[in-house]
Parts: sequence; C-alpha cells; structure tokens
Amino acid sequence: MENLISIKNLTNEDILKIMRMADGFEKKKIKSSVKDKNVCMMFFENSTRTRFSFEMAAHNLGLRVFNFDTQKTSLSKGESLFDTIQNLSSIGINCCVVRSKESIITSLLDTNMRFINAGEGTISHPTQALLDFYTIQKHFDDLTDKKVVIVGDIKHSRVAKSNAELLSRFGADIVLAAPDYFQDNSIKNVRYSENLNEELKDADITMGLRIQKERIEENIKFDDYIKNFQINSSNINKNTLLMHPGPVNRDVELSSELVNSSMGSVILEQAKNGVYIRMAVLDMIIGGKR
Ligand code: CP
Repeated sequence: MENLISIKNLTNEDILKIMRMADGFEKKKIKSSVKDKNVCMMFFENSTRTRFSFEMAAHNLGLRVFNFDTQKTSLSKGESLFDTIQNLSSIGINCCVVRSKESIITSLLDTNMRFINAGEGTISHPTQALLDFYTIQKHFDDLTDKKVVIVGDIKHSRVAKSNAELLSRFGADIVLAAPDYFQDNSIKNVRYSENLNEELKDADITMGLRIQKERIEENIKFDDYIKNFQINSSNINKNTLLMHPGPVNRDVELSSELVNSSMGSVILEQAKNGVYIRMAVLDMIIGGKR
C-alpha cells in the first residue's frame, strides 16, 4: 500500500492489519520501522485532532516532521502543487499528510511522493473512520448486526461517508438520522431516517456529527434542528456508545451536559486512539514492509 486515500481502497484484511498494528503500538509491542524518515504535514484546512495526533504519531515513530506553511511557500508565487510535490520529494520528504477542501491527492499520484489523506472536503476522512473502528472494538467484540446511528449533517460530513463504508463492511446496520436538508442519498448500504428519537432507542452506537456551518449554503433554522435532532439526556439510550469525531458544537448537535458526562468521555478516547491509528498508518505507508 503506497498511499491511503480512501477506505474504499482498503481491503478488510488491510483494515484489520492497521487495527493490529495500532494495538501493537499502543501496547508498545512493536517498534517503528520508519525512524529518521521525513514526513510533511500539509494542511490547507484547519485541524486540531488530526494534525496534532499525526504529529504526535510521527514523533513517537522517530520521524522528522516538516510543516508546510500554506501561506509561505512558493505556491503563493504560482508554482503548481504537482511541481511543489516533485521538489519536496527530491529534497527528501518521504510522505505528505494532506488535508484539503477538495480532492487533490489523486491528481498527484504520478509524483514520487506517498500520500495520506487527513480529511478531504466533504468526501472522505479514512483515518477518522479507522480510529472510530479501533475505539468501537474496545467496547464491542463483534460489530455484526450492531445498530450504528449517525446523526446530523451527513451531507457535508466526510466522517459519515468513511464510517458508513467501513462499519457496514464489518456487519454493522447503519442508520443515517437527519433532516432532509442534511441527508445524502448517495451513500450505500445504509438506512435513512428522520425520526431521531425512535432510532436512538435501540442504538448500540450513537455517532454525532458537527454541523459544518462553514460549508452550509442553505438557510437553515438552527432552533428547529436543535429541537428535533440534538442528542441530549432526553433522547439518548443510556446503554449506547456515544461518539463524536470533534470538534463538538456544544448545545447544537450534542448537549453540553452529555459531553461532560461519563458517556461523553469516549470522545476523548477517540482523540487518543487517533495517535495509535496514525502511527500504524504512517509506519505502513512510509515503511511499506510490515
Ligand atoms: N475529527 C477531526 O478531523 O477533527 P479536526 O478537524 O480537529 O482534525
């Protein structure tokens, strides 16, 4: 595997191998195979969890980390991204971790660089789905027939798309619960619902999503959204695993009370597990041998 672009490009065996490697790194049973290699963090969109966990993962593996300041490179002088990447490769960068507003990695695959998608517009966020699966595996032995309710702004969510692809392949029943203006009817192997309260009653896993105000063009009545689609103590099933990729809009998609409760602690577990998953992915893509 030379690049990680999408969950669609991974076999189930690839995914399980990443899980085993993440577990090995977490338990300190395996060592880095990429010490002293060079990785570049190329973030064209803002990030806290993904960026810092990739950087932490890289440092843990003994990688040298280079940050691509998008405002201070020769991209601003009109150099193409393709030429930029070719030059970074010649200088010695082995892999670029890329977050972007639109799909750019596929147009760069003819360069000598290796790539990891760290979140691509509304399209995909493979390492988030991998860390979510890793987190779920710590709470459930088997995903077969487990009901996963993904709630909210499905339309703009790369997390929902990558999770629907990955979790359905491991046997989960996925329900996308959202008002029609946030639905995306192109997602396969899922059921669509507008009845959040009914769906949450028997949800094994409840995954909230951030309302992505920066991507919303429609005129949405947020008060109505909160009334009908907020996850809170009045509709949550106390036995469900509550997840959210972050950042959370407190008291919009998720009540602050739930975030602060013991159920909300899984959200920080997700952030922590991101480090082990990203160690596994960096080691696999840059090392390429394990
Ligand atoms: N979950 C996630 O991608 O968060 P960041 O945007 O902070 O990286």
